[in-house]
Amino acid sequence: MKIAVLPGDGIGPEIVSQAVRVLESLTSDGMKFEMETALLGGCAVDATGNPFPEATRKLVAEADAILLGAVGGSQYDKLPRDQRPEQGLLSIRKDLNLFANLRPVVLYSELVNASTLKPEVISGLDILIIRELTGDIYFGEPRGIKLHDGQRLGFNTMIYREAEIYRIAHVAFQIARKRDRKLCSVDKMNVLECSQLWRDVVIEVAKEYPDVELSHMLVDNAAMQLVLNPKQFDVIVTGNMFGDILSDEASMLTGSIGMLPSASLDDKSKGLYEPIHGSAPDIAGKNIANPLATILSTAMMLRYTFNQEEAAVRIENSVKKVLAQNYRTSDICQPGMKEIGTTEMGDAILKNL
Ligand code: IPM
Ligand code: MG
Repeated sequence: MKIAVLPGDGIGPEIVSQAVRVLESLTSDGMKFEMETALLGGCAVDATGNPFPEATRKLVAEADAILLGAVGGSQYDKLPRDQRPEQGLLSIRKDLNLFANLRPVVLYSELVNASTLKPEVISGLDILIIRELTGDIYFGEPRGIKLHDGQRLGFNTMIYREAEIYRIAHVAFQIARKRDRKLCSVDKMNVLECSQLWRDVVIEVAKEYPDVELSHMLVDNAAMQLVLNPKQFDVIVTGNMFGDILSDEASMLTGSIGMLPSASLDDKSKGLYEPIHGSAPDIAGKNIANPLATILSTAMMLRYTFNQEEAAVRIENSVKKVLAQNYRTSDICQPGMKEIGTTEMGDAILKNL
Protein backbone atom coordinates (compact mmCIF):
# COMPACT_ATOMS: atom_id res chain seq x y z
CA MET A 1 0.00 0.00 0.00
CA LYS A 2 1.73 3.08 -1.30
CA ILE A 3 0.96 6.30 0.54
CA ALA A 4 2.19 9.76 -0.38
CA VAL A 5 2.46 11.87 2.76
CA LEU A 6 2.07 15.62 2.33
CA PRO A 7 2.29 17.38 5.70
CA GLY A 8 1.90 20.88 4.21
CA ASP A 9 1.90 24.05 6.29
CA GLY A 10 1.08 25.36 9.76
CA ILE A 11 -0.15 22.59 12.02
CA GLY A 12 0.00 20.15 9.08
CA PRO A 13 3.31 18.49 10.00
CA GLU A 14 2.29 18.02 13.67
CA ILE A 15 -1.06 16.40 13.00
CA VAL A 16 0.22 14.30 10.09
CA SER A 17 3.02 12.82 12.16
CA GLN A 18 0.46 11.52 14.66
CA ALA A 19 -1.59 9.99 11.83
CA VAL A 20 1.58 8.37 10.42
CA ARG A 21 2.28 6.81 13.83
CA VAL A 22 -1.21 5.31 13.76
CA LEU A 23 -0.65 3.80 10.30
CA GLU A 24 2.78 2.50 11.26
CA SER A 25 1.37 0.77 14.31
CA LEU A 26 -0.87 -1.29 12.03
CA THR A 27 2.12 -2.97 10.40
CA SER A 28 2.18 -5.34 13.35
CA ASP A 29 -1.16 -6.65 11.96
CA GLY A 30 0.56 -7.59 8.72
CA MET A 31 -0.36 -4.46 6.81
CA LYS A 32 2.51 -3.01 4.89
CA PHE A 33 2.65 0.67 4.07
CA GLU A 34 5.22 2.29 1.88
CA MET A 35 5.17 5.94 2.89
CA GLU A 36 7.03 8.73 1.18
CA THR A 37 6.87 12.41 2.09
CA ALA A 38 6.77 15.36 -0.30
CA LEU A 39 6.17 19.11 -0.34
CA LEU A 40 2.84 20.73 -1.07
CA GLY A 41 1.55 24.24 -0.45
CA GLY A 42 3.45 27.06 1.20
CA CYS A 43 6.41 24.90 2.22
CA ALA A 44 6.76 23.92 -1.46
CA VAL A 45 6.54 27.56 -2.52
CA ASP A 46 9.33 28.41 -0.06
CA ALA A 47 11.54 25.56 -1.28
CA THR A 48 10.85 25.57 -5.02
CA GLY A 49 8.62 28.55 -5.90
CA ASN A 50 5.88 26.11 -6.95
CA PRO A 51 3.04 25.00 -4.60
CA PHE A 52 2.83 21.65 -6.44
CA PRO A 53 6.38 20.74 -7.51
CA GLU A 54 7.12 18.13 -10.15
CA ALA A 55 8.49 15.63 -7.59
CA THR A 56 5.23 15.82 -5.66
CA ARG A 57 3.21 15.46 -8.85
CA LYS A 58 5.09 12.27 -9.67
CA LEU A 59 4.77 10.84 -6.17
CA VAL A 60 1.00 11.40 -5.89
CA ALA A 61 0.43 10.00 -9.37
CA GLU A 62 2.14 6.75 -8.37
CA ALA A 63 0.60 6.46 -4.90
CA ASP A 64 -2.54 4.48 -4.04
CA ALA A 65 -3.52 7.03 -1.44
CA ILE A 66 -2.41 10.44 -0.25
CA LEU A 67 -2.39 11.69 3.32
CA LEU A 68 -2.48 15.47 3.55
CA GLY A 69 -2.26 17.84 6.51
CA ALA A 70 -3.25 21.35 5.48
CA VAL A 71 -1.93 24.13 3.28
CA GLY A 72 -1.91 27.91 3.43
CA GLY A 73 -0.66 30.93 5.31
CA SER A 74 -1.30 34.67 5.13
CA GLN A 75 2.31 35.35 4.06
CA TYR A 76 1.38 33.97 0.62
CA ASP A 77 -1.74 36.12 0.08
CA LYS A 78 0.12 38.64 -2.06
CA LEU A 79 1.57 36.08 -4.49
CA PRO A 80 0.03 35.60 -7.93
CA ARG A 81 -2.89 33.17 -7.57
CA ASP A 82 -1.16 30.28 -9.38
CA GLN A 83 1.72 30.44 -6.91
CA ARG A 84 -0.37 30.30 -3.75
CA PRO A 85 -0.48 27.24 -1.49
CA GLU A 86 -4.20 26.56 -2.14
CA GLN A 87 -3.40 26.14 -5.84
CA GLY A 88 -1.32 23.07 -4.95
CA LEU A 89 -4.33 21.45 -3.31
CA LEU A 90 -6.72 22.40 -6.10
CA SER A 91 -4.28 21.05 -8.72
CA ILE A 92 -3.96 17.68 -6.97
CA ARG A 93 -7.74 17.35 -6.80
CA LYS A 94 -8.11 18.23 -10.46
CA ASP A 95 -5.08 16.31 -11.79
CA LEU A 96 -6.06 13.10 -10.04
CA ASN A 97 -9.76 13.50 -10.85
CA LEU A 98 -10.72 13.33 -7.17
CA PHE A 99 -14.28 14.43 -7.78
CA ALA A 100 -16.09 12.84 -4.85
CA ASN A 101 -15.39 14.48 -1.51
CA LEU A 102 -16.89 12.66 1.47
CA ARG A 103 -17.17 14.63 4.70
CA PRO A 104 -18.76 12.66 7.52
CA VAL A 105 -20.24 14.85 10.25
CA VAL A 106 -20.44 12.57 13.26
CA LEU A 107 -20.98 13.69 16.81
CA TYR A 108 -19.11 11.56 19.32
CA SER A 109 -21.46 11.38 22.29
CA GLU A 110 -18.65 12.41 24.67
CA LEU A 111 -18.45 15.77 22.87
CA VAL A 112 -22.14 16.62 23.09
CA ASN A 113 -21.34 19.55 25.37
CA ALA A 114 -18.40 20.84 23.30
CA SER A 115 -20.72 22.18 20.59
CA THR A 116 -22.35 25.59 20.84
CA LEU A 117 -25.65 23.90 19.94
CA LYS A 118 -28.03 22.35 22.46
CA PRO A 119 -27.38 18.64 23.21
CA GLU A 120 -30.90 17.60 22.15
CA VAL A 121 -30.37 19.16 18.70
CA ILE A 122 -27.17 17.24 17.97
CA SER A 123 -27.04 14.06 20.05
CA GLY A 124 -26.79 11.00 17.83
CA LEU A 125 -25.91 13.12 14.80
CA ASP A 126 -24.46 11.21 11.82
CA ILE A 127 -24.56 13.02 8.47
CA LEU A 128 -22.47 12.53 5.36
CA ILE A 129 -21.84 15.54 3.15
CA ILE A 130 -20.82 14.60 -0.39
CA ARG A 131 -19.22 17.56 -2.09
CA GLU A 132 -18.41 17.60 -5.81
CA LEU A 133 -14.76 18.59 -5.85
CA THR A 134 -13.40 19.15 -9.35
CA GLY A 135 -15.95 21.43 -10.99
CA ASP A 136 -18.15 24.46 -10.28
CA ILE A 137 -17.00 28.03 -9.74
CA TYR A 138 -13.68 26.75 -8.32
CA PHE A 139 -12.46 25.79 -11.78
CA GLY A 140 -14.88 27.54 -14.16
CA GLU A 141 -13.56 29.75 -16.95
CA PRO A 142 -13.52 32.63 -17.67
CA ARG A 143 -12.27 34.06 -14.43
CA GLY A 144 -10.23 37.09 -13.52
CA ILE A 145 -10.09 40.74 -12.60
CA LYS A 146 -10.07 43.21 -15.48
CA LEU A 147 -10.69 46.84 -16.33
CA HIS A 148 -14.07 47.45 -17.87
CA ASP A 149 -15.67 50.85 -18.57
CA GLY A 150 -13.10 52.52 -16.37
CA GLN A 151 -13.55 50.32 -13.35
CA ARG A 152 -12.21 46.99 -12.13
CA LEU A 153 -14.42 43.99 -12.55
CA GLY A 154 -13.97 40.65 -10.79
CA PHE A 155 -15.61 37.60 -12.32
CA ASN A 156 -15.85 33.83 -12.02
CA THR A 157 -17.94 31.24 -13.76
CA MET A 158 -20.22 28.77 -12.04
CA ILE A 159 -20.42 25.86 -14.45
CA TYR A 160 -21.34 22.18 -14.40
CA ARG A 161 -21.27 19.77 -17.29
CA GLU A 162 -24.01 17.17 -17.06
CA ALA A 163 -21.47 14.33 -16.96
CA GLU A 164 -19.99 15.83 -13.80
CA ILE A 165 -23.40 15.90 -12.15
CA TYR A 166 -24.30 12.36 -13.25
CA ARG A 167 -21.16 10.85 -11.74
CA ILE A 168 -21.40 12.59 -8.35
CA ALA A 169 -25.13 11.83 -8.19
CA HIS A 170 -24.43 8.12 -8.74
CA VAL A 171 -21.82 8.13 -5.98
CA ALA A 172 -24.30 9.84 -3.65
CA PHE A 173 -27.16 7.44 -4.36
CA GLN A 174 -24.90 4.41 -3.98
CA ILE A 175 -23.60 5.62 -0.64
CA ALA A 176 -27.11 6.59 0.53
CA ARG A 177 -28.14 3.01 -0.19
CA LYS A 178 -25.63 1.76 2.34
CA ARG A 179 -26.92 4.19 4.99
CA ASP A 180 -30.48 5.35 5.78
CA ARG A 181 -31.50 5.63 2.11
CA LYS A 182 -32.22 9.34 2.43
CA LEU A 183 -30.50 11.76 0.07
CA CYS A 184 -30.90 15.54 0.07
CA SER A 185 -29.54 17.40 -2.93
CA VAL A 186 -28.66 21.03 -2.23
CA ASP A 187 -28.69 23.71 -4.94
CA LYS A 188 -29.82 27.25 -5.72
CA MET A 189 -32.17 26.47 -8.58
CA ASN A 190 -34.51 29.38 -7.86
CA VAL A 191 -31.79 31.73 -9.14
CA LEU A 192 -29.07 29.82 -11.03
CA GLU A 193 -29.28 27.93 -14.33
CA CYS A 194 -26.29 25.89 -13.26
CA SER A 195 -28.32 24.67 -10.30
CA GLN A 196 -31.37 24.02 -12.49
CA LEU A 197 -29.29 21.57 -14.50
CA TRP A 198 -27.94 20.05 -11.28
CA ARG A 199 -31.47 19.43 -10.03
CA ASP A 200 -32.74 18.07 -13.37
CA VAL A 201 -29.87 15.58 -13.58
CA VAL A 202 -30.19 14.44 -9.96
CA ILE A 203 -33.92 13.79 -10.53
CA GLU A 204 -33.06 11.76 -13.63
CA VAL A 205 -30.46 9.67 -11.80
CA ALA A 206 -32.94 9.07 -8.96
CA LYS A 207 -35.03 6.87 -11.28
CA GLU A 208 -32.29 4.25 -11.02
CA TYR A 209 -32.48 4.29 -7.23
CA PRO A 210 -36.18 4.01 -6.35
CA ASP A 211 -35.23 2.65 -2.93
CA VAL A 212 -33.56 5.95 -1.96
CA GLU A 213 -35.77 8.81 -0.80
CA LEU A 214 -34.61 11.96 -2.62
CA SER A 215 -35.31 15.51 -1.47
CA HIS A 216 -34.07 18.89 -2.67
CA MET A 217 -33.19 21.96 -0.66
CA LEU A 218 -32.05 25.44 -1.59
CA VAL A 219 -28.65 26.19 -0.14
CA ASP A 220 -29.75 29.13 2.02
CA ASN A 221 -32.46 27.01 3.59
CA ALA A 222 -30.01 24.11 4.00
CA ALA A 223 -27.65 26.40 5.92
CA MET A 224 -30.53 27.23 8.26
CA GLN A 225 -31.84 23.67 8.59
CA LEU A 226 -28.36 22.41 9.50
CA VAL A 227 -28.45 24.37 12.75
CA LEU A 228 -32.22 24.20 13.30
CA ASN A 229 -32.67 20.45 12.93
CA PRO A 230 -29.53 18.74 11.61
CA LYS A 231 -30.80 15.25 12.38
CA GLN A 232 -33.30 15.49 9.51
CA PHE A 233 -30.35 14.80 7.17
CA ASP A 234 -28.65 11.53 6.32
CA VAL A 235 -26.68 12.11 3.09
CA ILE A 236 -26.34 15.54 1.50
CA VAL A 237 -24.98 15.93 -2.03
CA THR A 238 -24.00 19.32 -3.39
CA GLY A 239 -21.64 21.27 -5.62
CA ASN A 240 -18.11 22.36 -4.87
CA MET A 241 -18.70 25.79 -3.35
CA PHE A 242 -21.92 25.06 -1.48
CA GLY A 243 -20.25 21.94 -0.08
CA ASP A 244 -17.22 23.92 1.06
CA ILE A 245 -19.40 26.32 3.01
CA LEU A 246 -21.92 23.85 4.41
CA SER A 247 -19.24 21.44 5.62
CA ASP A 248 -17.52 24.12 7.70
CA GLU A 249 -20.88 25.03 9.17
CA ALA A 250 -21.73 21.39 9.86
CA SER A 251 -18.41 20.76 11.59
CA MET A 252 -19.52 22.95 14.45
CA LEU A 253 -22.33 20.50 15.16
CA THR A 254 -19.63 18.06 16.25
CA GLY A 255 -17.93 20.42 18.67
CA SER A 256 -14.84 21.31 16.68
CA ILE A 257 -13.63 21.54 13.12
CA GLY A 258 -10.67 19.58 14.50
CA MET A 259 -12.84 16.44 14.49
CA LEU A 260 -13.80 16.21 10.80
CA PRO A 261 -11.92 13.93 8.38
CA SER A 262 -12.48 13.73 4.65
CA ALA A 263 -11.89 11.52 1.66
CA SER A 264 -11.58 12.77 -1.91
CA LEU A 265 -12.02 9.89 -4.32
CA ASP A 266 -11.68 9.25 -8.03
CA ASP A 267 -13.71 6.58 -9.81
CA LYS A 268 -11.23 3.82 -8.91
CA SER A 269 -11.08 4.48 -5.16
CA LYS A 270 -7.71 6.18 -5.26
CA GLY A 271 -8.04 8.84 -2.62
CA LEU A 272 -6.68 11.92 -0.95
CA TYR A 273 -7.35 11.96 2.78
CA GLU A 274 -7.22 15.12 4.82
CA PRO A 275 -8.87 16.89 7.74
CA ILE A 276 -11.36 19.51 6.57
CA HIS A 277 -9.74 22.21 8.67
CA GLY A 278 -6.98 24.56 7.56
CA SER A 279 -3.35 25.09 8.53
CA ALA A 280 -4.17 27.20 11.64
CA PRO A 281 -0.86 29.14 11.62
CA ASP A 282 -1.79 30.84 14.92
CA ILE A 283 -1.40 27.58 16.84
CA ALA A 284 1.30 25.92 14.70
CA GLY A 285 4.35 24.50 16.45
CA LYS A 286 2.74 24.67 19.90
CA ASN A 287 1.73 21.02 20.20
CA ILE A 288 -1.89 21.99 20.88
CA ALA A 289 -3.59 21.18 17.55
CA ASN A 290 -6.18 18.40 17.50
CA PRO A 291 -4.82 15.48 15.42
CA LEU A 292 -8.09 13.50 15.55
CA ALA A 293 -9.48 14.73 12.20
CA THR A 294 -6.26 13.56 10.50
CA ILE A 295 -6.20 10.29 12.41
CA LEU A 296 -9.84 9.72 11.44
CA SER A 297 -8.83 10.47 7.85
CA THR A 298 -6.47 7.47 7.97
CA ALA A 299 -9.48 5.36 8.99
CA MET A 300 -11.28 6.60 5.89
CA MET A 301 -8.19 5.73 3.82
CA LEU A 302 -8.20 2.17 5.12
CA ARG A 303 -11.92 1.88 4.42
CA TYR A 304 -12.21 3.45 0.98
CA THR A 305 -8.86 2.85 -0.72
CA PHE A 306 -7.48 -0.24 0.99
CA ASN A 307 -10.69 -2.07 1.84
CA GLN A 308 -9.55 -2.65 5.42
CA GLU A 309 -12.83 -2.05 7.21
CA GLU A 310 -11.74 -3.79 10.38
CA ALA A 311 -8.66 -1.61 10.82
CA ALA A 312 -10.72 1.50 10.04
CA VAL A 313 -13.23 0.64 12.75
CA ARG A 314 -10.40 -0.03 15.19
CA ILE A 315 -9.05 3.48 14.68
CA GLU A 316 -12.51 4.99 15.10
CA ASN A 317 -13.11 2.96 18.24
CA SER A 318 -9.78 4.07 19.60
CA VAL A 319 -10.88 7.70 19.17
CA LYS A 320 -14.11 6.91 21.04
CA LYS A 321 -12.20 5.25 23.86
CA VAL A 322 -9.79 8.15 24.25
CA LEU A 323 -12.70 10.60 24.42
CA ALA A 324 -14.43 8.35 26.96
CA GLN A 325 -11.23 8.49 29.03
CA ASN A 326 -11.78 12.28 29.07
CA TYR A 327 -8.62 13.18 27.15
CA ARG A 328 -9.10 16.35 25.11
CA THR A 329 -7.04 18.75 23.06
CA SER A 330 -7.77 22.39 23.88
CA ASP A 331 -10.33 22.93 21.08
CA ILE A 332 -12.69 20.33 22.56
CA CYS A 333 -11.73 20.66 26.22
CA GLN A 334 -14.49 21.22 28.81
CA PRO A 335 -14.24 21.76 32.55
CA GLY A 336 -13.36 18.52 34.32
CA MET A 337 -11.64 17.00 31.28
CA LYS A 338 -7.92 16.23 30.93
CA GLU A 339 -6.30 18.63 28.50
CA ILE A 340 -3.42 17.12 26.53
CA GLY A 341 -1.27 18.11 23.56
CA THR A 342 -1.05 16.88 19.98
CA THR A 343 1.64 14.24 20.60
CA GLU A 344 -0.02 13.04 23.80
CA MET A 345 -3.27 12.61 21.90
CA GLY A 346 -1.35 10.45 19.42
CA ASP A 347 0.06 8.43 22.36
CA ALA A 348 -3.44 7.91 23.78
CA ILE A 349 -4.82 6.75 20.44
CA LEU A 350 -1.95 4.26 19.98
CA LYS A 351 -2.43 2.88 23.46
CA ASN A 352 -6.11 2.17 22.76
CA LEU A 353 -5.68 0.77 19.25
C1 IPM B 1 -11.46 22.83 1.97
C2 IPM B 1 -10.66 24.10 1.94
C3 IPM B 1 -10.15 24.35 0.54
C4 IPM B 1 -11.34 24.51 -0.37
C5 IPM B 1 -9.18 25.55 0.39
C6 IPM B 1 -7.99 25.41 1.31
C7 IPM B 1 -8.74 25.73 -1.02
O1 IPM B 1 -11.42 25.17 2.43
O2 IPM B 1 -10.91 21.77 1.62
O3 IPM B 1 -12.64 22.88 2.34
O4 IPM B 1 -11.90 25.62 -0.50
O5 IPM B 1 -11.75 23.53 -0.98
MG1 MG C 1 -13.29 24.62 3.19
